[in-house]
Amino acid sequence: MALLKIARLGHPAIRAGAGNVTLDELARSGTQDLIDSMIETMRDADGVGIAAPQVHVDKRIIVIEVQSENRRYPGREAVPLTIVINPEISDLSESLETGWEGCLSIPDLRGLVPRHTTLKVRGLDRKGRPFEQHASGFFARVIQHEVDHLNGNVYLDRMPDLKSLFFLPEFMRYSQ
Ligand code: NI
Repeated sequence: MALLKIARLGHPAIRAGAGNVTLDELARSGTQDLIDSMIETMRDADGVGIAAPQVHVDKRIIVIEVQSENRRYPGREAVPLTIVINPEISDLSESLETGWEGCLSIPDLRGLVPRHTTLKVRGLDRKGRPFEQHASGFFARVIQHEVDHLNGNVYLDRMPDLKSLFFLPEFMRYSQ
């Protein structure tokens, strides 16, 4: 396990997209170490999710965890540690909800992004077993954000109005 360097917007890794992980690859110690390091890196940075391209790896792996005392997103509903390999989103709600997002690859900014309120995500867990989960609210938002990273997209691409983009101190002071 090690803390990994997080790629920021502008590094080609953020826009390159990622490919599926095979079961053989997933079983390798290198991949399992990567997953552990992604968890450690996310927690160290007070993130609520991280995708492999953010640590310069072009594989479809996402890690999500929302702790209720998270400093960057206080007051959100907690989500236990969730690791999804090759995630596929389906059953997206027609309804959208607009909410604030930030990104470890776009430090110190917040912006308003519309996201589907409920969805289903399917894939594999870290042991290669089928994984399926229904999600709503902030959990559904984070899943959409992280899967976007696997396709080379960031939340700024989803913002209908860049006027809601705030630096964090200004966000704390003026946005709510
Ligand atoms: Ni992000």
